Amino acid sequence: MSKINAAITGIHAYVPEYILTNEELSTMVDTNDEWIQTRTGIKERHILKGEGQGTSVLGTKAVLGLLEKTNTKGEEVDLIICATVTPDMLFPATSNIIAHNTGCVNAFAFDTNAACSGFLFAVQTGRMYVESGLYKKVIVVGADKMSSIVDYTDRKNCILFGDAGGAIMLEPSTEDVGVMDADLHTDGSGKDYLYQKAGGSAYPPTEETVANREHFIYQEGQSVFKFAVSRMADVSADMMTKHNIKPEELAWLVPHQANLRIIDATARRMGIRKEQVMINIEKYGNTTDATIPLCLHDWESQLRKGDKIILSAFGGGFTWGAIYLKWAYDGDKVKKIQ
Ligand code: UT7
Repeated sequence: MSKINAAITGIHAYVPEYILTNEELSTMVDTNDEWIQTRTGIKERHILKGEGQGTSVLGTKAVLGLLEKTNTKGEEVDLIICATVTPDMLFPATSNIIAHNTGCVNAFAFDTNAACSGFLFAVQTGRMYVESGLYKKVIVVGADKMSSIVDYTDRKNCILFGDAGGAIMLEPSTEDVGVMDADLHTDGSGKDYLYQKAGGSAYPPTEETVANREHFIYQEGQSVFKFAVSRMADVSADMMTKHNIKPEELAWLVPHQANLRIIDATARRMGIRKEQVMINIEKYGNTTDATIPLCLHDWESQLRKGDKIILSAFGGGFTWGAIYLKWAYDGDKVKKIQ
């Protein structure tokens, strides 16, 4: 019997309407467009507005589009995995809410959390369910409403993040396409550099945690930057070496979009040209779990069956990793939806 691969058979993404520009941010904190663009590559980000609007709104829109594009009925879906650091609530899982909103009534659903590497960790998890032969339609969602944990008085961090959701369908294939390999890592010594301190079981919410602004993202940018550059570059270059992929043979690097300088360093280390790298950080900023599916969505029409692609990320934890896959369909033949 030929091996079952887990192939990506569809992709969709959603960004909310409201655009927060560098100009608007410079009226909120002491910053400016030039600093933000030079240091990060970001021009604007999308923000989900409205009371009671959580990450499930972003994930739901992405999944509804995915179902439509892949001509899938909600009841056919076996499993939904949602990677997020900004769940609607601590429980139930945001994936539960998305499953309910999208009519995926026969699916079981759970969330994963690996910060900015979360989408990769969730894809690897979904891949295992498909490759086992037990499940036929697995949806992996990466979604974050980062604006819910951003301190808009902290100029170092508030310029970085945006809100978005993306979703892929994983299905079995016996062709030479799909997820080929994954190399994922965790190093808990990184926990002191990037975290949201309060709101969990160690520091439940109190008046004091709120007053101390401990429900927002804390990041030591320079330390995280150093780790991100070396880890993301190493893991991506090692994946090419392991599979004997020459730079010119790689169709696309799809990097987590945290900082343009980290992306450039990774591409340089892999010996690939800028034209081989998906970069949309200027439009969306860092949307944490959504950056990679958002890139795949924006570039879908250019993707061809058999394209060799490396997904790569680094995030809080620390967590990092790379996934090597062969694209499963011609993106220009996909049903167009609004
Ligand atoms: O996705 C999860 C993983 N996260 C990352 O990968 C993020 C990694 N880190 C970074 O991308 C960068 O460290 C940042 C973009 C967060 C910061 O860039 P940086 O080049 O490391 O800047 P810095 O923190 O060293 O700050 C340089 C200067 C400081 O001023 P002084 O002390 O040199 O006078 C800051 O106070 O820039 C100042 N600064 C700002 N100036 C204008 C910091 N934030 C701003 C700002 N506008 N928004």
